[in-house]
Amino acid sequence: MCSILSCSFLQAKDYLINTPHTSLLISATPGEKARFQYYGSRISESEISGVYDSGLTFNAESYPVFGLNSPGEKAMAVTHADGNMSLDLMVKEVKQYESVDGNVTEVWMQDKVYPFELKQVFKAYKGTDIISTWVEVSNQAKKPITLYRFASAFIPIQRGDNWMTHFHGAWAAEHTMDEEKLTNGQKVISNKDGLVNTETDNPSFMVTLDGKPQEEAGHVLGGTLAWSGTYLIKMDVRNTQFNISAGMNEENSYYTLEPEETFITPEFAMTYSTSGKGGVSRAFHRWARQYKLHGGNEPHDILLNSWEGVYFKVNQEKMDQMMEDFAALGGELFVMDDGWFGNKYPRNNGSSSLGDWEVCKEKLPGGIEGLIASAKEHRIKFGIWIEPEMSNTKSELYEKHPDWVLQVEGRPLSTGRGGTQIVLDLTNPEVQDFVFGVVDKLMTRYPDIAYMKWDDNCALLDYGSTYLPKDKQSHLYIDYQKGLIKTLKRIRAKYPKLVMQACAGGGGRVNYGLLPYFNEFWTSDDTDALQRVYMQWGVSSFYPAVAMGSHVSADKNHQTGRRLPLKFRFDVAMSGRLGMEMQPKDMTETDKEFAKRAISAYKGIRPVVQFGDLYRLVSPYDNKGVASLMYVTPEKDEAVFYAYKMSHFMNMIISVVRMNGLDADKMYRLTDLTPEEEGKPCKFHGKVISGRILMEEGLSLKDVLKKEYSSVALRIEEVK
Ligand code: GLA
Repeated sequence: MCSILSCSFLQAKDYLINTPHTSLLISATPGEKARFQYYGSRISESEISGVYDSGLTFNAESYPVFGLNSPGEKAMAVTHADGNMSLDLMVKEVKQYESVDGNVTEVWMQDKVYPFELKQVFKAYKGTDIISTWVEVSNQAKKPITLYRFASAFIPIQRGDNWMTHFHGAWAAEHTMDEEKLTNGQKVISNKDGLVNTETDNPSFMVTLDGKPQEEAGHVLGGTLAWSGTYLIKMDVRNTQFNISAGMNEENSYYTLEPEETFITPEFAMTYSTSGKGGVSRAFHRWARQYKLHGGNEPHDILLNSWEGVYFKVNQEKMDQMMEDFAALGGELFVMDDGWFGNKYPRNNGSSSLGDWEVCKEKLPGGIEGLIASAKEHRIKFGIWIEPEMSNTKSELYEKHPDWVLQVEGRPLSTGRGGTQIVLDLTNPEVQDFVFGVVDKLMTRYPDIAYMKWDDNCALLDYGSTYLPKDKQSHLYIDYQKGLIKTLKRIRAKYPKLVMQACAGGGGRVNYGLLPYFNEFWTSDDTDALQRVYMQWGVSSFYPAVAMGSHVSADKNHQTGRRLPLKFRFDVAMSGRLGMEMQPKDMTETDKEFAKRAISAYKGIRPVVQFGDLYRLVSPYDNKGVASLMYVTPEKDEAVFYAYKMSHFMNMIISVVRMNGLDADKMYRLTDLTPEEEGKPCKFHGKVISGRILMEEGLSLKDVLKKEYSSVALRIEEVK
């Protein structure tokens, strides 16, 4: 027997969306509202009644729309051609099917009066604990309608002691982690850049259900908006109610939907973890490598980028010499950064030449072919920097195509970097062809280019397009991104093997909207290893190490002026995709010897770092004087452990660091990966210790992290 209330729920059809460890439950009955009931630990069909009975169900509209019953946050608002501002969506049908990469549930809804159709999609990615959701709206009317609000997702959350973890930033301080208790009112994470969207807040967050965020305990929902344009994520907390909505930022972006046209919102991807923030991160990393990063399962080369070594002073001799020196250290790829192009206006600083993607003959008389020949001679690969969405008022491109630039008719151009940087209008197919051509021409002429760093150092400044019709100027933020993605898709279809890095004045393009077209991202223009520990901690919450460009740079550091031992700088960079960004010829012989050994050690641990499961052990944000993390293979037969001394006082307490993710019953041999002096490893080197001791009791690092900015990197291998 069941109560009237639960019986009425049970009459609705329940649709269970499962991943290995999570379930999402939607109830939908034709002619009624679709309802979001449950998102949490995995349940079976037979447990559905149990979640209703335990009071865990929300019975909230799965996609609330504006107009009737209007108070409160809504996911969508439109105005019909006759001026009516309401929607009233009822379920038409539900389809569940398997696609190549996931199990898909589509809830088709239809307005009761207007010919307006909305499909809400949920996709459980196979073999991962990620479910993504988005909506597709189609206008079946004879006249256009206007979309004023169009969230991808609207998720109810159990109200309790809810905390939010998010990642805020600024240039050279991207992905800094913030944690706060959510109280009544709204907390908004948004972006209005138009071109890049992670220099400030990242469109990713975690929300706990049961108190202060913990690394390996607690119930946490993690979500990210897979979009590279402007966005709006609202935590709407009202006493007993808590909803999260996430989608593109509608401000200045109302969208006219023509008859027969379909508008698709970006994916919002989420996971639910009962093992704290660590569980959220590992789920996202696996999903990223399997589905969302271009070539996510391929190991990445150790590279030297020329930027901090020579800045704009690129020339044949310096490039040749950098390649020679880096090859001697064991490096695998050389990337020539900004400064290599422009003839009428050679690129000597940030104020000219973007768009003139011809090699500067004066600086590089041997051309790109000469550089590739030199790379070949040193047995390393060659890569190059481009910023193809941009131009400068001082450039041949702008002289030829002034109409290709974003601008507001009748008003002077706003300019960015160097006082001259301007943005190309990627809504225009001709401009899309040009941007595609930047890559295509380089690759056609020099098929041996192995890597491209695709940069963007400007926001969308002037909100106007000479291509978009007058009544569709408000589409610019959205259509720019669509144009960019279309262009990247074309590039990827033709050049699947080319390794591409997404960069935007450092870490401005670390999002799952663009990462499907890139192999990796540049984390930040700040290469100070101490600050990197914080930033990489933040970025590791949602993005995997294989994609996280992490470079050893000069002493003293060019951004902060800090001096850090080379070992510390390597130990930090080796926890991501290792690279260098300095002038190798300026290194002492001792430093070169150290770098050689560290690079060779990284080659040995590369698969563990780039494809292993991350366990964050001691957070730098907890101010314990030490930060520590490790990567473990899924088989738990190998791991890499890092610990960094973050502050330094005499007689300071250094607490024991407990490892995680190993097998308690296995024995492990520890190897010092980066002894400061050859033949003088730290005291753990060669020791064999059980997984149980390493995880339950830990390592006492007090004798190892003794000096200021000391650090340790250990390889941990199962002894069979
Ligand atoms: C941006 C990038 C840097 C470098 C410069 C070149 O700032 O983030 O790494 O490529 O541009 O101008």
